Amino acid sequence: MALQISTRVSHIRAPPRAIGLLARVCADFHQTGVKLKHSFTLGSLQLGNKPATSPVRGHINAALRVDNFSTTATTTAFWRSSQATGSSSPRGRRGWLGKLAVGAVLGLSTAALVQSFHTGPVTAMALKMNLDSEGKWEETKEVLLSLSVKDRRPYYRTSSSVPLDEIPVWTPTAGGPEPSRYQRNEKLDQKISVYSGDITMLEIDAIVNAANKTLLGGGGVDGAIHRAAGPILKQECASLHGCETGEAKITCGYGLPAKYVIHTVGPIAHGGVGEEERRALRSCYKNSLQTAAENAARSVAFPCISTGIYGYPSEQAVHEVLATVREFLDAHPDKLDRVIFCVFLPKDKELYLQNLPLYFPAEATIKSKL
Ligand code: APR
Repeated sequence: MALQISTRVSHIRAPPRAIGLLARVCADFHQTGVKLKHSFTLGSLQLGNKPATSPVRGHINAALRVDNFSTTATTTAFWRSSQATGSSSPRGRRGWLGKLAVGAVLGLSTAALVQSFHTGPVTAMALKMNLDSEGKWEETKEVLLSLSVKDRRPYYRTSSSVPLDEIPVWTPTAGGPEPSRYQRNEKLDQKISVYSGDITMLEIDAIVNAANKTLLGGGGVDGAIHRAAGPILKQECASLHGCETGEAKITCGYGLPAKYVIHTVGPIAHGGVGEEERRALRSCYKNSLQTAAENAARSVAFPCISTGIYGYPSEQAVHEVLATVREFLDAHPDKLDRVIFCVFLPKDKELYLQNLPLYFPAEATIKSKL
């Protein structure tokens, strides 16, 4: 198929030489038998003899314009990448432009193109995404999820971040006020943490949000997570069309140090706790862990879901939570490396440290279930 690429030069502010090089690259393709006819005209993209309305157009335009990045920065970044990766020679320059042209023609996503250029000294800063304003969340998400933790750090909107290796593992202590309710399981010894502080700071695979059914933000930890992630989180949340009580849905973390946010909706328990509220709270934790496992998120932190605005008594919630997490880890010991109970209030820290030995005992004793 003879593919004619003519693109609106006006919308990319690349150095004129880059355009010329791209033209030569296309010519090179032509000589190699790839029927790639090009003409750089100020006009719309032509595919063959008719206006390109196919996705190819979107990719080529996007690849050349690269939404959510400042074109200048991106083009400069691409340009710098070509300079710095020893490709000052015309052939070398054609190399990266070739990737651009081939990527565009093959319909590679913008993110893949951006990522493929990420090899040079182009730092994340050079490809600064604007997470402070709304934008195309799909492309931003694709780029962020493709970056390493180190490469994602320039995009954090939090004042600081706490890496997983700075979150101590809780170790079971022998003895305790009551005999444990579960057998000892050594496989789980290094998997539990109790962390006192702000969940938005945790640089881990996923943090869980105590959301409401709209998923469009609110107060409490929900408000803190949305503020830290930036407005683009709400755009992805809006695409999920809400969440039922006990269910869990996952989004990108955007400006958060956490790669993902798992949104779950806890039961409202102002009128007291019955079987329905207990079951719903357990579902929040079980479905959030399941969602984490399905997305290869191996470290997950929970706030104390429903115990704030939704009024679930903390001293009752802690037992539903620890039993649910223990039973999930017993059933899927290899799916998760760490489950972190992120306690914001001193009373919650006390409750978790006091009751953890009942569910994650240090010794083999077990109280009869009778
Ligand atoms: N980090 C960790 N935990 C936090 C943070 C934070 N930054 N902020 C609050 N918390 C704790 C609270 O102290 C409480 O223990 O999170 C727990 C849950 O409290 P809420 O955020 O009030 O959540 P919940 O009780 O589930 O009520 C959900 O509140 O924010 C709205 O939109 C949300 O309508 C929903 C409702």
